[in-house]
Amino acid sequence: MTQTRITYATMSADDEGLHQAYEKAVAEVRSELGRTHAFVVDGQERMGSGIHEELSPVDRDIVVGKFAQATAADVSDAVAAAKAFFPTWAGTPWQERALILEQVEEAIRDNQFRLAALLGYEVGKNRLEALGDVAEAADFLAYYVEEMRRNDGYSQPMEPAQPGERNRDVLRPHGVWGVISPFNFPMALAAGPVFAALLTGNTVVLKPSNSGALMSVELAQLIRQGGVPSGAFHLVTGSGSVVGAALVSHPDVAGMTFTGSYEVGMGIYRTFATTYPKPAVCEMGGKNPVIVTASADLEKAANGVFRSAFGFGGQKCSASSRVYVDRGVYDEFVARLREKAAAIRVGNPLERPVYLGPVIDEKAVARFEAAIADARQDGSVVFGGERVVEGELARGNFVQPTVVSIPFSSRLWKDELFLPIVAVGPVDSLDEALMLANQTEYGLTAGLFSEDQSEIDRFLTEIEAGVIYVNRAAGATSGAWPASQPFGGWKGSGTSGRSAGGPHYLAQYMREQSQTVVG
Ligand code: UN1
Repeated sequence: MTQTRITYATMSADDEGLHQAYEKAVAEVRSELGRTHAFVVDGQERMGSGIHEELSPVDRDIVVGKFAQATAADVSDAVAAAKAFFPTWAGTPWQERALILEQVEEAIRDNQFRLAALLGYEVGKNRLEALGDVAEAADFLAYYVEEMRRNDGYSQPMEPAQPGERNRDVLRPHGVWGVISPFNFPMALAAGPVFAALLTGNTVVLKPSNSGALMSVELAQLIRQGGVPSGAFHLVTGSGSVVGAALVSHPDVAGMTFTGSYEVGMGIYRTFATTYPKPAVCEMGGKNPVIVTASADLEKAANGVFRSAFGFGGQKCSASSRVYVDRGVYDEFVARLREKAAAIRVGNPLERPVYLGPVIDEKAVARFEAAIADARQDGSVVFGGERVVEGELARGNFVQPTVVSIPFSSRLWKDELFLPIVAVGPVDSLDEALMLANQTEYGLTAGLFSEDQSEIDRFLTEIEAGVIYVNRAAGATSGAWPASQPFGGWKGSGTSGRSAGGPHYLAQYMREQSQTVVG
């Protein structure tokens, strides 16, 4: 097995065994693509109504799969089955739930190459990012189990207030937990919330993005094989407008985790609770700034921005999309970033030397073209700006990594684009950079490049974001990993102020009960 530890910060892997295993899996899974997939309610496969044919962003001639689309009635059945099984699952000692879920973790690790190969076809991630997505799913679970143990199942004795009292404080699950997961981390961001909810004793209904459904079908199989009872976990594939809406509006869904856009997340946050408050953990977008001061190591800065602006085509809510550079080093920084962007190999991300694969769909290409038109009108394109259509790439959604220089009034400094486009602009001081960086409704991630401790201290204190990095060449704003960088947003980027893969995450899936027993 492979020696290299893959995380999103892994810069390169010279491990031949890893590459061979991945390439073998890519060849093997090819024949599995294009199949029809049912969804699963209470252990039963269902076909719902209609089919979504998912095409690979790498090549439209490759059908990833045909996914049965659940109806609102299927969602209701899933919620009813999850509700019926909740007392049994919640009543199972957490240690037993942990042991079952650890089997799932092992199954994910055993299947990492197969899953990463499928994931590469499904969403167009390069191999290290795809392997990272799968490894992160397993590492989320490992960390959550560790947290459960460290907190003794979130049960602790309290002080007696009166003689003869026995007092405890316990956190207990809510009931049926809905999870709506995004296309961009189709394994990790489905698995993370699902594992958290199951481990803490909730039963789960998962609705994945239709552009990431294959990973959820695979996850559902591993969850079942690992021994999670069929009443505890249900998968409903389909659109946000039907399946997502049915889940969010169902009165018996007690809690929700959503990862996706600001608009949808805020909609869920505003409407999910009706007759009484219910937890809605919404992880939303980002417009993540990077500040490069005059004291910065510009090579580190250019590397960090390059990796976070162009990693997975900027389709991460953690992507760097705006860079404020001290005027004195602006030209040199932009030249270095331009050079790195020009050296990127755009192409089929399943191939070893390729760093940048396609964007997810035609809509994303259209968004790219509209953004570039605005950039050309308001300012200039420093590098890139074109669709890539050479040879077989014409069958996929390929665009160039793009650096734009535009006035701060442009919408490209404000809108989350989810594309490999980064805006650069000169500033006169750290004050100005911090002011501009914080001038956004988002507050997910942020980065600083500076070799001056007082600048670093100011950034750490004043930046308004949930995940922040200083001098990180492996990723200026992206690449958080469970147990190392808890990941969650402030302001319009997240509802809960508590981060995934961090010490306060699991508690959100439970409610507190103080127990006093006299005598
Ligand atoms: C997202 O894109 O929704 O830090 C989250 C990162 C990832 C988080 C991505 N762990 O880049």
